[in-house]
Amino acid sequence: MQGYEGFKQKVYRKTGIDLSLYKERQMKRRIDSLIRRCGKASYDEYFALIDKDHDKFDEFINYLTINVSEFYRNGSQWEMLKNELIPYLMERNSSIKVWSAACSTGEEPYTLVMTLSNFYPLSKIKVLAADIDMGAINKAKVGMYTEKSIQNVPPEFKRKYFTQVGQSYKISDDIKRCVDFKQMNLLSDPYPKGFDLIICRNVMIYFTDEAKDEMYQKFSDSLVEGGVLFVGSTEQIIVPKKFNFESMRTFFYKKI
Ligand SMILES: C[S@@+](CC[C@H](N)C(=O)[O-])C[C@H]1O[C@@H](n2cnc3c(N)ncnc32)[C@H](O)[C@@H]1O
Repeated sequence: MQGYEGFKQKVYRKTGIDLSLYKERQMKRRIDSLIRRCGKASYDEYFALIDKDHDKFDEFINYLTINVSEFYRNGSQWEMLKNELIPYLMERNSSIKVWSAACSTGEEPYTLVMTLSNFYPLSKIKVLAADIDMGAINKAKVGMYTEKSIQNVPPEFKRKYFTQVGQSYKISDDIKRCVDFKQMNLLSDPYPKGFDLIICRNVMIYFTDEAKDEMYQKFSDSLVEGGVLFVGSTEQIIVPKKFNFESMRTFFYKKI
């Protein structure tokens, strides 16, 4: 399909989302298939549709952002966080300031709260959770999950913090209260500062190398010295030193 450049500019003007910072082939393939599904034949026709139809616009944002997540995703890495990284951070500081940087529908920040609850009372836990997609954030605030998405939650936490409602599971208000949700575009908004731990998983894979490098630098600037960045399974930093990071364990980097 012709006209992707013009489409990117119009999307940027409308949403502030710069599609040229996302890997092009992958993103274009997804958008093309969505356009076909909507029965449109060109980017122009499709943009005219999302420009006037709210539901179609939300569908576009939803499709673009890929909200797939689950509780305790890649469980062994959460074990490592619990057994090694949090004890390390606690040695340095009595409280820890944490940010889940692409929190999707809430599984990651809520997993974080449960993990931290092994060390702190819930009243002392505050997690900042941000995502570009307001639809995902609204779902996170509701906190209803499928059985499949909570399958890796430890049984005692399942009992304590989830209530079955029909076929779904609702997370308790005690856990919800520990999370502040915020809309934020990692590619253009200023990053908050002073964190001991930042979790950014399964989103950088969608970005170009240049965009990724810029993000690693900003994460580094957002961490206190000795703070930790926790990344996704295919998102290891090739030259951590370039961003003042040192590899602690696979997927965990310390700001030096
Ligand atoms: C695949 S989910 C990952 C969720 C969670 N971190 C995990 O690992 O399970 C990717 C998330 O990144 C968000 N995202 C995509 N582009 C973003 C951007 N520029 N800024 C912030 N979040 C973004 C999407 O909305 C989506 O919720």
